[in-house]
Amino acid sequence: MNVPLLDLKAQHGAIRDAVVPRLMELAESQQFILGKPVQELETRIAELSRARFGVGVASGTDALLVPLKALDLKPGDEVITTPFTFFATAGAIHNAGGTPVFVDVEPRTWNIDPAAVEAAITPRTRAIMPVHLFGQMAAMERLLPLAERRGIPLVEDAAQAIGARRKVGGQWRMAGELGAVTGFSFFPSKNLGGWGDGGMVVANDQAMADRVRSLRTHGGARQYYHDEVGINSRLDALQAVVLLAKLPYLASWSAARRANAGRYARMLGGLSAVCPPVTDPANEHIFHQYVIECDRRDELLAHLKAKDIGCAVYYPLALHLQPCFRFLGYKPGAFPVAEAATGRVLALPVYPELTEAQQQYVVDTIRGFYGK
Ligand SMILES: Cc1ncc(COP(=O)(O)O)c(C=O)c1O
Repeated sequence: MNVPLLDLKAQHGAIRDAVVPRLMELAESQQFILGKPVQELETRIAELSRARFGVGVASGTDALLVPLKALDLKPGDEVITTPFTFFATAGAIHNAGGTPVFVDVEPRTWNIDPAAVEAAITPRTRAIMPVHLFGQMAAMERLLPLAERRGIPLVEDAAQAIGARRKVGGQWRMAGELGAVTGFSFFPSKNLGGWGDGGMVVANDQAMADRVRSLRTHGGARQYYHDEVGINSRLDALQAVVLLAKLPYLASWSAARRANAGRYARMLGGLSAVCPPVTDPANEHIFHQYVIECDRRDELLAHLKAKDIGCAVYYPLALHLQPCFRFLGYKPGAFPVAEAATGRVLALPVYPELTEAQQQYVVDTIRGFYGK
């Protein structure tokens, strides 16, 4: 049986009829840059994340880079983040002119450890950047007071967590609701994915939203007049049309991923070599990825691939050990939790259309590998 890591063709059937006529309308209008579909999507994503403003940009990477540029980082300014994330998190800090300061993650969720964040704050700290890894939110209720007390903005990397929420003080709070500014990604494999690159910044502060809007169009609110040097990072109208057609399905797709995760946890019960992902009880996880911790990870990965099962390692090398960040001076052993995770994590298929029979095949194949 073939079980891909992700099956976007299965999803496409559900939205084809909604999306194709709107794309043809757009083709007739020949209005491809920003415009009404992008504005509508900005409003919808801001509503979803209970933020006041949305600004569409060209990728999830730019949805981090542009707000960081808006912080006017000077050489030596520090942004605290996690080393166990996709490269773009730290790449954006560097490209915005800041210095990434890594701290370790918590063992069960692999989200940034608030105690380690507190210990790393210095007079040069200009932002704290949690990542809501694999689709569950970081401990915002512990990070927010640290940031607010010192007037440091929280920049949420919610690239993997659109629609995720967390109970804070007894109330559900959305990814993007609590931070000063947040970046989402619409990379095709995301829970809400476009037909190419795309991203969205959400913010509650009018000044931040205006600044991001200006920076995404070469730093000018008025065409051909430039208050500062920005970049070209606009969301295509074509992507907005696709994303608007998919958006009504997002909650049910994420619920189906959660149901699949629950089924895996039951099927994997009693297998001591495998630890299913742990959801913090405060979180509603959207399972962008279903990541197990396992013994003999690389051998298991090869075995699953040989049996036609898609799986992947997110992430094999922590960011503080990447060659490009050697100049920062971190050594192996600096962040034991993150480094241990890089050797033991494995993402299994969890996409919404996955069938019970496919999941059973994945789990039987894992059990076969361990001889259990
Ligand atoms: C945690 C995280 N941050 C940032 C990004 C960057 O998003 P994009 O690929 O849309 O540029 C991603 C995308 O994979 C991500 O997973």
